Amino acid sequence: MTKPQIWVSAFLVLFILLFIIGRITKEKETERIFSNQINNTTSQQNTTELTAEQLVKNFGCVNCHGTDLAGTNLGPSLKKLSEYWSKKSLIAYLRNPTNYMNEERFKEYKEKYPSQIMPGYGEKNIKDLGKIAEYLLRL
Ligand code: HEC
Repeated sequence: MTKPQIWVSAFLVLFILLFIIGRITKEKETERIFSNQINNTTSQQNTTELTAEQLVKNFGCVNCHGTDLAGTNLGPSLKKLSEYWSKKSLIAYLRNPTNYMNEERFKEYKEKYPSQIMPGYGEKNIKDLGKIAEYLLRL
């Protein structure tokens, strides 16, 4: 082989090598993205498979409202909520409780539970909140 021929073949080999390496890393990347997506959907399914009772425990509602949701010294009873809420308004409340602080009932709560405030659950899956709302309205 002449000198230029050696150069050309060296470049060719290098090019083919780079091409193969590129393909392998790309496959790994798509594999990673794909399995991430699968994991995401399964973790969402996991919470949606939980019953409302389990969600209320998982989200810590029972810590303040009591295991039977009849109220503790940290939060009011959640029985008979259907007197005040529809499913839609209750979901909106759970997502952003501070919007409702001015109602008469909530002013009383503020005096009764001065050290506690109802946390917002705006970052939770809306379907889970819907399930909880339905459950609470049936209590
Ligand atoms: C840190 C304690 C705490 C946690 C945790 C908590 N709450 Fe509350 N909740 C309160 C307090 C205190 C109030 C009374 C309003 C206020 O002071 O913010 C309240 C009020 C409420 C009300 C309004 C009651 C009414 O008379 O209309 C509902 C409904 C409610 N909580 C549901 C829930 C649900 C569902 C969860 C879980 C997803 C939850 N809370 C978690 C403390 C808590």
